[in-house]
Amino acid sequence: LGAGNLCGCRGIYQLMERRFSFHGGATGEWRVLSIAAVSGDSLALVSKVRIIEGFDADASADWSLRGVTSYERYVTGDERVRLASVQPQLGRVEATRAALIPIKKNAEWWALPQDVRRAIFEERSAHIATGMRYLPAVARRLHHCYDIGEPFDFLTWFEYAPPDAKAFEELVALLRSTEEWRYVIREVDIRLER
Ligand code: HEM
Repeated sequence: LGAGNLCGCRGIYQLMERRFSFHGGATGEWRVLSIAAVSGDSLALVSKVRIIEGFDADASADWSLRGVTSYERYVTGDERVRLASVQPQLGRVEATRAALIPIKKNAEWWALPQDVRRAIFEERSAHIATGMRYLPAVARRLHHCYDIGEPFDFLTWFEYAPPDAKAFEELVALLRSTEEWRYVIREVDIRLER
């Protein structure tokens, strides 16, 4: 194999690492505490969620959702620096609670130009400014699925410690009251513990 091939393989490997599957069923590290539809159809009530790096099939799962981590669409350079200084890593031992919130936005949102979406997202809805007030309590990872034919556009994942559960409720309530959320047509709120 020449160096070019090795480079190619590494490219594929890096892409693999960005792919995640969430399988709802009877097995998995995360026990389901609740599944509630916020907008649109819910997902079947399952007892566990299994998270896998990569896209795999799980015939035993009641539902499977897939997403990829991606580049940032809206964050400014200044916001990126401030986020990096406070955001915690996933997998903290004390963070035994989690939320998986799959979200779909409507066609009107996706038809808007980038600058208008940014204005709604941050200048008018203060998504980042509000979210940042809940850091470092909440760790998060955003998965995109608009382009891969999934039922949702985003799989949002959050981890926090039980004492921060109330603050997390306050955060989701604040975000759901914003102009950004007027474009959300399907949202399922799944709470978990490990
Ligand atoms: C914990 C505090 C939070 C912080 C610091 C935060 C921060 C961010 C940032 C920086 C982005 C933009 C990424 C980009 O530039 O592409 C983003 C996107 C997003 N966040 Fe949050 N967020 C938080 C909580 C939440 C919560 C609780 C939800 C759901 C209830 C949520 C749902 C989303 C969604 C759906 C997007 C994608 C929006 C789009 O691209 O249209 N976030 N968040």
